[in-house]
Amino acid sequence: MANIIDGKAVSARVKEEIAKETASVKAKYGINIGLAVVIVGDDPASRIYVNNKKKACETVGFASYEYALGADITQEELLQLIDKLNKDDSVNGILVQLPLPKHLDEKAVINSISPEKDVDAFHPVNVGKIMIGEYSFLPCTPAGIMELIASTGVEIKGKECVVVGRSNIVGKPMSMLLLHQSGTVTICHSKTQDLADHCRKADILVVAVGVPKLVTGDMIKEGAVVIDVGMNRLENGKLCGDVDFDSAKEKASFITPVPGGVGPMTIAMLMKNTLTAAKIKHGIE
Ligand code: GUN
Repeated sequence: MANIIDGKAVSARVKEEIAKETASVKAKYGINIGLAVVIVGDDPASRIYVNNKKKACETVGFASYEYALGADITQEELLQLIDKLNKDDSVNGILVQLPLPKHLDEKAVINSISPEKDVDAFHPVNVGKIMIGEYSFLPCTPAGIMELIASTGVEIKGKECVVVGRSNIVGKPMSMLLLHQSGTVTICHSKTQDLADHCRKADILVVAVGVPKLVTGDMIKEGAVVIDVGMNRLENGKLCGDVDFDSAKEKASFITPVPGGVGPMTIAMLMKNTLTAAKIKHGIE
């Protein structure tokens, strides 16, 4: 029976450390730290995420500035707002909640955010830095997963690491971070021929595909660390991950639950990136 990795507890600990450091930076240098959160339209899931991000800012002692824009805003108006935020000294981080309405060019919007304020680490400059291991910001979900793996005490070096999913936001950067820690990394995806065979070799298995219960207990190596990034809504209204938790927990040594595993870490790492952005701006070590 696996140990359950408590993402809420790890996230609370990270936020507590950030709050302490924020207070000390404020006292020592007299600076305030601010995150601008841009939301376009009225997608209910995006509204919940944005509210949670604002709440986390309050918890750690940052100012948050919300820009709630109508779904009919033009590309030009949105780019003008980002340009203004790029130049605003009270804004250390800029987050544009995705997805954007279809008429807006998401890529162009991400590219318009100053890399120094790109606390999502989605800008190509930051993505490139991750590739060569010289980064200021890590994308929030993979960074949070690295914290969760660290919390288990399991070393990554030399381990077979399998990442299921190749998205730009999770799968690809996740693979790089595991590689930087000297894991032997395999990336699986929808065209992988024998997913179960790859998964069974994993000492550390990260699943991020958005397919409910894709990975089952028989696909898991005895004693593996299993990280489930999935957040799927079933027909009965319940949330479930990409891993079949009940069968997987019988094989894994550590496993994340859904909800309460990876999810809470993402916002904690967003706070960490915002603090980092402020420290870099003010030349604080
Ligand atoms: N929408 C869903 N997840 C995210 C995220 O991590 N960042 C942004 N900006 N939008 C999202």
